[in-house]
Amino acid sequence: TGRRLAVPSTRDEIAALGATLNGLLARLQEALERERGFVADAGHELRTPLAILRTELELAARPGRSWEELVEAVSHAGNETDRLIRLAEDLLLLARADNAQTFLRPGPLALPDLLATAARGARTRAAERGVSVVVHSPSPLSVAADPDRLRQAVDNLLDNATRHAPAGSVVEITATSSPTGTVTVEVADRGPGFPEEFLPHAFERFHRAETARTRDGGGTGLGLSILQAIAQAHGGQATARNRSGGGAAVTLELPTDAAPDHPQHRSCT
Ligand SMILES: Nc1ncnc2c1ncn2[C@@H]1O[C@H](COP(=O)(O)OP(=O)(O)OP(=O)(O)O)[C@@H](O)[C@H]1O
Ligand SMILES: [Mg+2]
Repeated sequence: TGRRLAVPSTRDEIAALGATLNGLLARLQEALERERGFVADAGHELRTPLAILRTELELAARPGRSWEELVEAVSHAGNETDRLIRLAEDLLLLARADNAQTFLRPGPLALPDLLATAARGARTRAAERGVSVVVHSPSPLSVAADPDRLRQAVDNLLDNATRHAPAGSVVEITATSSPTGTVTVEVADRGPGFPEEFLPHAFERFHRAETARTRDGGGTGLGLSILQAIAQAHGGQATARNRSGGGAAVTLELPTDAAPDHPQHRSCT
């Protein structure tokens, strides 16, 4: 707890100013603590793959390795390196997303085509487990957004959905446009859904619902925060809920005239 101004008990401008400044100090402190937590989490996430990488390299360098052992160690080291690269890319993206002006390269894009391509990409992996991916999208549906970022947001959702979807189930991508000038993309699955207590934290960086941080069981917990950063940079928002009948549904909502850095959407925390 930081130091605060002693606010006089008078009800004048000085008291009001004191209270305002204290509020500002409290918010600054919160922001600082959040950043500190983020750096600590990032450090933690970097440490594990780096430690594994080091072990694998040590194994590979030991005298008397057979060719097979060598190949295996190097291939494991390669996997961990890939993980580190992904992590670095995710962290860079989150850092850059704060500035929508330079982060986004918006242009008109055909949303149904983008969703169809994303679905095709996800099917390869989903099909191994008998999970199908279907797209419901009204055909003329265009939105001014950054196509690459939008694709990345949808890919993150599809990755989550197909990972949690039970064998033989259907993952649904649904695009809708509302007369109020928003376009909504929802990815829904029939998996276990989100634990209720996790929902308020779903978009926090590094937050995961599964407690076990297994090596290959899941990701780093950045996918949904990246989705939210992309949504907010467009002046939109992301929401997560559980479906009636079971399963998770995550929605990305974008204004049809998505203007980057729209003043009313910038939060000042
Ligand atoms: N479709 C879903 N069904 C159930 N739980 C989900 C679903 N999507 C996400 N979650 C939960 O939310 C957590 C955060 O998701 P997020 O995409 O941010 O991270 P991740 O998938 O663990 O890692 P990353 O996306 O960085 O590879 C997940 O760890 C998982 O516990
Ligand atoms: Mg994910």
